[in-house]
Amino acid sequence: MVKIGVIGAGFMGAMHSQCYALLPEAKLVGIADVRKEKAEELAKKFNASACQDAEELLKNPEIDAVDICLPTHIHRDWVVKASNAGKNILCEKPIALSLQDADEMVEAARKNNVVFMVAQVIRFWPEYIRLKEIKDSGELGKLLSLALSRLSPLPTWGWENWLQNPEKSGNALFDLHIHDTDYILYLLGKPKALFSSGTRVKGGYAHIFTLFEYPDCSVSAEGGWDFVDTFPFRMSFVACFEKGAVEYDTGHNKPFAVYTAGKAEYPKLGEEIPRATDTSGNISELGGYYSEIEYFVECVGTKKKPSIVTPENARDSLALVLKEKESAEKGEKISLK
Ligand SMILES: NC(=O)c1ccc[n+]([C@@H]2O[C@H](COP(=O)([O-])OP(=O)(O)OC[C@H]3O[C@@H](n4cnc5c(N)ncnc54)[C@H](O)[C@@H]3O)[C@@H](O)[C@H]2O)c1
Repeated sequence: MVKIGVIGAGFMGAMHSQCYALLPEAKLVGIADVRKEKAEELAKKFNASACQDAEELLKNPEIDAVDICLPTHIHRDWVVKASNAGKNILCEKPIALSLQDADEMVEAARKNNVVFMVAQVIRFWPEYIRLKEIKDSGELGKLLSLALSRLSPLPTWGWENWLQNPEKSGNALFDLHIHDTDYILYLLGKPKALFSSGTRVKGGYAHIFTLFEYPDCSVSAEGGWDFVDTFPFRMSFVACFEKGAVEYDTGHNKPFAVYTAGKAEYPKLGEEIPRATDTSGNISELGGYYSEIEYFVECVGTKKKPSIVTPENARDSLALVLKEKESAEKGEKISLK
């Protein structure tokens, strides 16, 4: 049994807690939040204990792993503290906002020999997993092009409105669009070059368009959270292969489609994943969160280092997003070695 402490009882803390509660191999022991009432509310739902100071979870010898669901600008401090306390760690994405912070986190976990996984959840999302299988197996031939998009109303739920403070969240480029940047790296490796252009707001980008160059495939990704509150959150991709196409769009009635000559199929994926009990925030289902957390619990329980997403992978995704920012600021294509 892997005993868990959740740090941060906001939107993601609640989502992750639901997943631990559904996993027979995990036990949610404690929940910490500076807003004690948030910790108490969540702890009551899941029969855990609540505290205001997360240090209490780090000092609790019963706890094997902590799940850091804190605003991004404080990920570094808590990952380093948790590593030094010998706790295994799941930390929400993005890993951090600077490479220096990311490197310190990776090093602290390495030095203390703890499991450290960053929650790059799209690597665990059923439709994105299927796209990777189709690409890797070559069943539809070579991938010719891929367009990804992630569009959201402005996130307003954050503690003290941290999501809208670019120094704390990095804005849509770092907080939202990094999901697709990370997936592109997972699917195709490092691009040869990139060019980004976006909608600049104070201190960052609320909407970004990036073209990623690969030797034999063209890739674009759009991410923006500058939509009005009635706009439904949507993530999507269209992948064009030599012998077919694969499409996913959460705005469609049949979200996932595989098109081959003379045939359109609409497989339902992830049917085995339990349904969410709380659907507040911009995501209505547990989707990849459940599989991601199941994998983290398995890694901690079997003392294996995560390989689906390594700390270095999360750091590389941040590095690429920083290049996208540089490209958009300079208005120039950036070559990547
Ligand atoms: N994977 C995804 O799809 C996804 C979606 C949303 C957010 N996130 C990520 O999850 C993380 C958290 O975002 P959120 O939306 O849950 O934010 P949130 O504001 O809803 O929750 C953060 C919580 O942390 C608490 N907190 C702040 N400082 C603390 C401290 N020192 N100790 C204990 N608690 C503290 C706040 O009171 C708040 O309840 C961010 O890194 C964000 O990028 C990921």
